[in-house]
Amino acid sequence: MERKLEINKLIDLGYKCISIEAPSNIALIKYWGKKLGQIPMNPSVSYTLNSCKTTFSLYYKKTDVSYENEFYFDGVFAPEFAAKTFKLIETISSDFSELGKYHLILNSTNSFPHSSGIASSASSMCALSSCLLNLLGKSDDLNLISHYARLGSGSAARSVFGGVVTWGASSLVENSSDLFATKLNEEIHSDMKNICDTIVIIHDGVKEVSSTMGHSLMENHPFRDVRILNANNRFKELIEAMKLGDFSSWGKIIEAEALELHAMMMTSNPSYILLKPKTLDVLETVRNIRKEHSVDLYFTLDAGPNVHLLYPEKQKSQVLKLIKENITGLKLINDKTGPGPRVLKC
Ligand code: PMV
Repeated sequence: MERKLEINKLIDLGYKCISIEAPSNIALIKYWGKKLGQIPMNPSVSYTLNSCKTTFSLYYKKTDVSYENEFYFDGVFAPEFAAKTFKLIETISSDFSELGKYHLILNSTNSFPHSSGIASSASSMCALSSCLLNLLGKSDDLNLISHYARLGSGSAARSVFGGVVTWGASSLVENSSDLFATKLNEEIHSDMKNICDTIVIIHDGVKEVSSTMGHSLMENHPFRDVRILNANNRFKELIEAMKLGDFSSWGKIIEAEALELHAMMMTSNPSYILLKPKTLDVLETVRNIRKEHSVDLYFTLDAGPNVHLLYPEKQKSQVLKLIKENITGLKLINDKTGPGPRVLKC
């Protein structure tokens, strides 16, 4: 029998609650490969999303007795999904021992369906880090929240900020760091601050290969050095294009980056292929749409078969019509650039 979260009972028992909703993000320059301590091999850039989110509700009570923390998913007790959550709690507790004085009960829900194939690690680790640091009275320290979100899942570091975000030390971005993400909005051309992202769901289900495994295969990858060089060059070129509002260069860079991410997977040892035949159909369709209509529609990919279609908000009505006419029989999720995490009422 399912064990359900009984919120009223917890409140009666004196538990208090913090609830935070955090967004996912889509990387344009990919974080792929890391060094010890969750340090990225290269700087990355992403847009924070608006609709694809995870909400974490944290019920907490000070106690002298040692109880095991509990994890619920969609209100149902789910210890099988708790590993990353408990690991991050442990990491933060080792720096802030007062966290150990609380009994913690966590409930996580996603705005997108569990089986949609959209990775939730960025939004969930960002929401969790935000909740725990809020409990520790550090809710204003976004760099610290980003630092711990990163330790939960690298890409989660970027979800702490809204808009265009970078992560990874670079001489091109002031205050950038390998330890936390940095918001880039001020320097970005106004047309590029807000873009649309229509996600084409090619395959729903759990990822066949975890990103942890993908990162580790970069260590001895035959193209490791050239990958680092390319990512750094594209990072520079992308920031230039984003300052200028140059969509054509922007699009070329992000498509090359998406294909290189998958090329790394295909040429690693062991090799693996996450793209499906329908993924390639969609990529070809995007390029055909561009050839036939002068629109700024470009694709990027995560570590999976689904395709993110990126285009300027100004072209939304025309591009969305073209997408719906040309990409049929597949589920579409329409998202766009959004703000960082938000505290909700419990
Ligand atoms: O944060 P992780 O360990 O799930 O890695 C994310 C990797 C990519 O999504 C492929 C790229 C990125 O920068 O988000």
